Amino acid sequence: MTIELIENREPPDVGFETFSPLKRAIKCVLVNPLANYLPAGLTKAVLRFGKSELAEANWADPGGWRSMVISYNGQCSQIADKILVKAGTVPTALRNRKRLASHLIADLIDADGSDSTHVLCLGAGPGQIITEAMSKAKTASHATLVDLNSDSFDFGRKLANDLGLGDHVSFIQADVRDLHEYFHDQPHIVKMMGICEYLDDEQIVTIARAAADVMPKGAPIVFNSISKSHGTDRFFRRVFGLNMNHRSPGELSELMRQAGFGNFLSHREPLGVYHVIVGRKVEATD
Ligand SMILES: C[S@@+](CC[C@H](N)C(=O)[O-])C[C@H]1O[C@@H](n2cnc3c(N)ncnc32)[C@H](O)[C@@H]1O
Repeated sequence: MTIELIENREPPDVGFETFSPLKRAIKCVLVNPLANYLPAGLTKAVLRFGKSELAEANWADPGGWRSMVISYNGQCSQIADKILVKAGTVPTALRNRKRLASHLIADLIDADGSDSTHVLCLGAGPGQIITEAMSKAKTASHATLVDLNSDSFDFGRKLANDLGLGDHVSFIQADVRDLHEYFHDQPHIVKMMGICEYLDDEQIVTIARAAADVMPKGAPIVFNSISKSHGTDRFFRRVFGLNMNHRSPGELSELMRQAGFGNFLSHREPLGVYHVIVGRKVEATD
């Protein structure tokens, strides 16, 4: 079966970060090969000596919420992190992804038309994307944030409080695959950002199906793909122990189709590493 997937070629103006052609060329011929092929033990020793917080966060929990927060904030004290986080392709693309996703979700909240739009966030971590979206939206909203790990919740509550959204967010520590056991509302929007790249196909379909089961027909789901165009997959695997599953927007949308979604609209951040995709709940097909 073919999936309906349209690419939006006019990205919104949300202050994206980009690299000059010269910087891209230097990364391609020098920085990426060095990062990928220097002995991993040597690179780890340099990062340990440089007290890299991004490396420490990934060694403790590869791709976990703390490494996201460090990349999103982009302000680092250690020189090693200034290089990795400010100039690294993936951390820069992550900041672009956050800007793009929060912009799209804010628009979806405003288009929803409810008294208070309910956003369900799967694998939410501390919820930086959703709180940014809620504060950008012009209309009222509230969010339920679900994560297996409750470590990030205090940090998330503080983020929400700082934005005056403390009463609009609630956190649940649970597995999103068991959604029907503890979530008894109908969300207007579901967000599944920053999670598919750590899951296999079967896990993605299971989680998306659990979401589809509680969503009304036509409701949007927002998720992201990651492409290998960042050129540093070997570095992430060997040095950070981070094994990401790269999929095209089409491959990921096909998994979402199996879970009961369709009418996909894909938005590319300017580095081409991430696409943020909005699908709509249709009927379950498989
Ligand atoms: C990389 S973080 C992304 C955080 C946030 N969504 C973002 O994009 O900034 C992925 C999160 O998904 C959570 N996660 C993974 N599998 C899960 C599951 N089955 N149920 C609930 N949370 C899950 C992890 O605990 C982790 O906090």
